[in-house]
Amino acid sequence: MKTLILFYSFSGNTRKLASKKAAETGADIEEVIELKRMFVLKAYFIGAYSAIKRKKTEIQPIKSQLNGYEKIIIMAPVWAGNPAPAFNSIVEQLPSGKKVELVMVSAGGGTKNSAEGTKNLITMRGCEVTDYIDIKTMAKK
Ligand SMILES: Cc1cc2nc3c(=O)[nH]c(=O)nc-3n(C[C@H](O)[C@H](O)[C@H](O)COP(=O)(O)O)c2cc1C
Repeated sequence: MKTLILFYSFSGNTRKLASKKAAETGADIEEVIELKRMFVLKAYFIGAYSAIKRKKTEIQPIKSQLNGYEKIIIMAPVWAGNPAPAFNSIVEQLPSGKKVELVMVSAGGGTKNSAEGTKNLITMRGCEVTDYIDIKTMAKK
């Protein structure tokens, strides 16, 4: 199945995990970059609030032809229990009819309270959520 990994990463953890997944699966990969990189304080004060409100942020145009893929894996960091705003900007561009896997990368808090709402955003775009994975980077091994 032709698969694309689209990811956003603020501090590098999701980038590392996405690269590993691409190497393991042979999927294509593209990093989604914000038009203006957020400063750390802004991420915590404004970004986290935006994440809770499921707001978007301005991103650079996605170069991959999303229509050319059967499956799209979206990987994003968790901010204040929700996907970071860049995730919402990616979702807005999803063509309908895609199989979508979601990978949420948090320090340890996970996304228990936001997962259903996040999956709904995907189904509302006419796509199918095939998998939902919470990765906790600080979890004890
Ligand atoms: C603004 C902000 C809010 C965050 N909120 C949470 C949170 O609610 N729960 C959690 O477990 N981690 C939280 N984190 C930590 C990140 O989710 C975690 O470090 C993740 O691995 C970062 O991925 P990245 O390096 O790809 O940006 C937050 C980080 C930032 C910058």
